Parts: sequence; structure tokens; C-alpha cells
Amino acid sequence: MKKYYIFTYGCQMNVHETEKLAGILEDRGYTPANTPDEADVIVFNTCCIRESAEQKIMGNIGGVKPLKKAKKDLIVAVCGCMAQQNDMASLLKKKFPFINIVFGANNIEFFGEYLDTFNEQKKFLNMVEKDKDYIENIAGVSCVRDNSLYAYVNIMYGCNNFCTYCIVPYVRGREKSRSPESIYAEVKSLIKLGYKVITLLGQNVNSYGLDGNTDGVNFAKLLDTIAHFDGDFELRFMTSHPKDLSAEVIDVMASNPKISKTLHLPVQAGSNKVLKAMNRSYTRESYLDLITRIREKMPEITLSTDIIVGFPGESDLDYQETVDLVKQVRYHNAYIFMYSKRKGTIAEKMENQVPLATKRARIHELLDIQHHISEELFHEMVGKTICVLVDSELSSEYSAKAQCGKVVKINKTQPLCVGEFYNVKIIDYKKGNLIGTITNE
Ligand code: SAH
Ligand code: SF4
Ligand code: F3S
Repeated sequence: MKKYYIFTYGCQMNVHETEKLAGILEDRGYTPANTPDEADVIVFNTCCIRESAEQKIMGNIGGVKPLKKAKKDLIVAVCGCMAQQNDMASLLKKKFPFINIVFGANNIEFFGEYLDTFNEQKKFLNMVEKDKDYIENIAGVSCVRDNSLYAYVNIMYGCNNFCTYCIVPYVRGREKSRSPESIYAEVKSLIKLGYKVITLLGQNVNSYGLDGNTDGVNFAKLLDTIAHFDGDFELRFMTSHPKDLSAEVIDVMASNPKISKTLHLPVQAGSNKVLKAMNRSYTRESYLDLITRIREKMPEITLSTDIIVGFPGESDLDYQETVDLVKQVRYHNAYIFMYSKRKGTIAEKMENQVPLATKRARIHELLDIQHHISEELFHEMVGKTICVLVDSELSSEYSAKAQCGKVVKINKTQPLCVGEFYNVKIIDYKKGNLIGTITNE
């Protein structure tokens, strides 16, 4: 029995595409390997959002060399966003001559054919297509999901926003919405199979349907329809671009109990000057106003965000505005990154690049500030009753997840079913975990 091992980097989109790669491999009779050295096929599903991601991946590809030496027939494939970049396939081949197949982020669906061709010809395959704008047929590809309770469902591919720092629109191509019927069918089958948390995925889910491919179904309508499906499940989505999170979507969220009251709303920066240079199309004021409107409709909402520090031209004052915004909004969680220059983006050529030492100082300070806010907010949850999904049973306790993704530990005072939702009263917050007890409140 031949075995496969997949290294996955980057966002949820890639995590889900790895499930498709696994589906393609299993259709061909491969089974999962526990470690790379057991594998007959190793795939690197890559990310290039920051330089640090690329460096790590390069290091890990290099690590496969001894395996290839020990097993001559081992097939090594590299795919995904990093591979999609201009000239990357030849650069990879030069650096790692043992690589057998390279294909881009928008060619995932053809992996099986590439594998067959390689097995016939035993010749290096560079299948990256520069102008391939989006994934066409991936919805129909088999999928081996990594988890039996949480499922990702793609609703759109690509991005049209061209934030000036970001490489995604260049490697993922233009926005393309999947048909509502195909999404509905997939979600219904997942609910039937017992999946409990369905997360709709897109780089900017709010622009679902704007490309005219959905017979007039916009994101609010899509959400509302799915939230009315029968069954015991929770619906989430990511990512929402603040520039077009509509009042209609907020209303749909507020009025549907099946939609998680959690929202990832990347702000990136708190200064209007920087937001403009980033091409984010909203201001600090309009973002804060949006947060106010969301909280008016859903006071219990938990918010998270992405922030970049050290964007070109970001002064101390600009950075302070980000700090102020973080303190004002009080996110439950924030993913904070140092700006990383990406080849081919507009910001790459901007003057006033911020020195690394300044970026480091800013990220450390902001991480620290955010850590304190998160800790305060989780401590404030003590005494509250929330709905959680019990997702695993350990020897001394059950582990569950709150809607915001936070782990909740529940003492084994009574038997609970893994895969069921329970109302839990939070009684403590310790070592980064909420501690809860079952309640009928
Ligand atoms: N489509 C999503 C996020 C995609 S990338 C959105 O628009 O929100 C995830 C995060 O990586 C971004 O939100 C941003 O904060 C960060 N990021 C993107 N490009 C970056 C770069 N060049 N340097 C540092 N962080 C970056
Ligand atoms: Fe990148 Fe902006 Fe598109 Fe998000 S919206 S993927 S940050 S270009
Ligand atoms: Fe990375 Fe591509 Fe996602 S660059 S963050 S894997 S869309």
C-alpha cells in the first residue's frame, strides 16, 4: 500500500485544499503516512504571504533530501501559492533538483493527472500556469476531511482587492464565486454526515456574488439560506473585509441562532494615512462605526482581527493610532504581523520602508497589549453561560470549543457526548483555557 504525507502552510484555504489533495491521493489508492519518512509521495502545499513562511518552507523542502536519497522512487511535489509565483518553479528545481512536480494554487484539481503523467514519464513536471485565474472544478474533487466535526466549505476563490502589501491577488487570481446550489448541496451533505461547525471560506466572503455568477444571491442571502437548513449545526465564515460588510449581513447574523456570534474583521492599521496607502478602502472612523453597529445588534459578539505593523511610511504616531484602536475595540484575539516585502506588490516599491528593529519593537509591544486585553476579556467571561461544542474526551475532562474558538475544559461530573452542543457556565479561566460546568440555565 503506497502512502502519502502532506505538509500544509498558510491559511484555512490551504488547509482545505490539502483535504482535496488527500482526496485525490486516496482515490488513487494511497493511504496517509504518519511521518514523511514512511511516505511514497510527499506534497508541500505552500504559502507565500510573508517571507518568513517561504523561508520555513524552503528549509522543510531541503529536509526531504535524505529521504529521497534513501528511497529513490519517492515522489516530491510542491504546490500552492508559493509555487504560483513567477519563475518559482524553475528556482525551486534549481535549489532542490529532487523535486518531481510543481503546480500552482489554481491547479489543485489536476494533481491526480500530474501524478499519473509523472508515473508514466518519470520526468520533472512544471505545471504552473501563469494566467490561470481561479480554480475551476475543485468543488467536485473528493475530499478527505481532517476532522469529523469541523468542516470548511469554499464559497469563492481569488481576490480582487489588491491591498498594496498583499501577494494573494497575484497568486490566487480574480474573485470567482461558486454556485449557490453547489454550496447548498455540500453543506447539506456535511450536516447529514454529522459535521457540527461549518465554516464558509473566501478571501473576502462579503463580495460573494458580486462577480455575477450566483443568479443574484449575495452573501447575506447565502448565509440566511444555509442558517435555515435543518439540523444541529453552527455556521461561521471568514474572512470579512470591513469595506463591504453590509448591514444586511449583520442583520442575518443577529437574527439566526445557528450563525456563530464571532467575527474576524481584519483592520490592518489604525491610521488613515496607512490605511489609504494599504488601499483598504475604509477609514479608522468608518471601521469603528462598523464595530459599534455590530455590537448594537449583537452585544455578545467576540471579535478578532489581523494587524500589520511597520508598513512603509508608518510613523510612531501612525503606530500609536493602531495601539489606540486595539485598546478601543478590545478584540478577543488579534493576529499581528510585521510587514514583509512581497515581490510584485505595490508596497514593495514604496519608499520609507520601516527598519526591522522598529518593526520588532512595535510587534512586541502590541502583542503584549493585546495579550492583556485577551486575558481580561476571558476573565470577564467567568460567570457567563455559553454554548459550546464538546469535541474530545480526555482521561480527566472533556474538551469543548466556544464560538470564538477558545478551548473550554469541562470536568467529568456527568457523561457528555462528543459532537454535541451544551450550555456551559464558565467557572474559571486558567492557563489560557476557560473552565466550564454543564448548566440547564
Ligand atoms: N483575505 C484576508 C486575509 C488574507 S492574508 C483579508 O483580507 O483579511 C492574512 C493576513 O496576512 C492579512 O490580513 C494581513 O494582516 C497579513 N498579511 C498579508 N500580506 C502581508 C505582508 N506582506 N506582510 C505582513 N503581513 C501580511
Ligand atoms: Fe490580501 Fe487584501 Fe485580498 Fe485580503 S483582501 S487577500 S489582504 S489583497
Ligand atoms: Fe498563504 Fe496563499 Fe493563504 S499566500 S495565506 S496560503 S491564500
